[in-house]
Amino acid sequence: MPRNSLSVTDNRTGKSYELPIEHGTIKATDLRQIKAGPDDFGLMTYDPGFMNTAACKSRITFIDGDKGILRYRGYPIEQLAEQSSFLESVYLLWRGELPTKKELNEFTASILSHTTIHEQARWFIEGFRHDAPPMAVFLSTTAALSTFYRDGANIFDERCREIQFHRIVAKVPTIAAFCHRHATGQPLIYPDPELSYTGNFLAMMFAARNAKFKPNPVLERALDILFILHLDHEQNCSTTTMRGIGSSHCDPFTALAGAAAALYGPLHGGANEAVLRMLQQIGSKDKVPEFITRVKAGDFKLMGFGHRVYKHYDPRAKIIKRTADEVFEVTGRNPLLAIALELERIALEDDYFVSRKLYPNVDFYSGLIYQAMGFPVDMFPVLFAIPRTPGWLTQWEEQILDHEQKIVRPRQVYLGYGERDYVPLEQRPDASHRPAVVHSNG
Ligand code: ACO
Repeated sequence: MPRNSLSVTDNRTGKSYELPIEHGTIKATDLRQIKAGPDDFGLMTYDPGFMNTAACKSRITFIDGDKGILRYRGYPIEQLAEQSSFLESVYLLWRGELPTKKELNEFTASILSHTTIHEQARWFIEGFRHDAPPMAVFLSTTAALSTFYRDGANIFDERCREIQFHRIVAKVPTIAAFCHRHATGQPLIYPDPELSYTGNFLAMMFAARNAKFKPNPVLERALDILFILHLDHEQNCSTTTMRGIGSSHCDPFTALAGAAAALYGPLHGGANEAVLRMLQQIGSKDKVPEFITRVKAGDFKLMGFGHRVYKHYDPRAKIIKRTADEVFEVTGRNPLLAIALELERIALEDDYFVSRKLYPNVDFYSGLIYQAMGFPVDMFPVLFAIPRTPGWLTQWEEQILDHEQKIVRPRQVYLGYGERDYVPLEQRPDASHRPAVVHSNG
């Protein structure tokens, strides 16, 4: 009996099968040979939400959720947050190795020289309603960029992919800041190539017109660290969307817009916004126990808690907590911090959260920092999307160069009607006699 295999006996037929095991997985298509009879399609796996399905082999980001480990290209997130810069980490993620000094200088210069966007892309942003949520404008504008850079469709041309990578990474902070200035009715501030990636973003967000903006170095570094922490997180909902759209071989701008849309929901990158609104709704520390009781009763979720992969403290949340202290020394303490700390204290002692291994995730504290730095709450998902953009693009490139990949096309378990004859309109029974429509399995 080969050691690296799984023996399966189908009790319907009494037949046995040997399924090879590689990298701790069996191939789902190997199950297809297991049939109850000649007309049987073959066995499939049923896995809503991809709870236990590896859809790709990757060499980019490693997570051990039980041990609370996160590494980019093998480097621990703690070391990168401490010693690297955002653009250096972007280079590492994308190219696979830390850059030399020369490579980093050239990469940084290239990114900072591509930060302006086409004037017509600016008009596109200005065409949205004055109070349009910045994240909705952001993701629409990234899709619109595909109409400006038609060469983006040449996805199998290496140089072309490189150009799009530089363009997109350079332009997302500008688009993001323009979305904010538009939503708040302020004149747009154009990129300043003399500032760093994050310093320039802060300037485009907060500078007064005609005044030279000098970013506070503590806040600039804090934002850089937050961006490093958000750079990539392997096969989450938005990255899976990026790969899924990319699997049809469309251009990266369009795939990116889809990934940003997936990020927008409150269960994913919209959670940082949801956390802030939750803390505001709780209002004061003494209301926390009552709030926890309602969470446990299933009235709502404790936003910023829980993770599909981490069943231990999210390592990014630990770093963010430290960064928060540094930021609050400059900005003053966010008054909502006391509520957040109390929520965490009670939740980490409560059996409901302990038994389900629910710990604070990256979003629990990031919003408090962003708010203290002056970012409005509806910009929080955008602040997630900017640093995740190079992560999405790196994952997208790995996907399209992987010869084992195919267009994404899951199977389904069909539970609807069998064949039935069309009923002409005048012969249909009254709606009150119609059987109830079954929408879900819940
Ligand atoms: N508050 C209360 N209960 C929770 C929470 C929470 N935040 N998260 C999970 N649970 C409970 C579930 O109700 C479930 O309980 P049950 O077993 O009694 O039914 C159990 O814990 C397991 O939860 P699932 O929903 O099965 O976990 P899943 O892996 O599907 O969901 C998710 C992970 C979406 C992150 C979830 O924990 C959640 O909704 N958290 C709040 C939103 C959030 O912070 N999202 C950001 C995630 S990080 C990121 O995307 C960047």
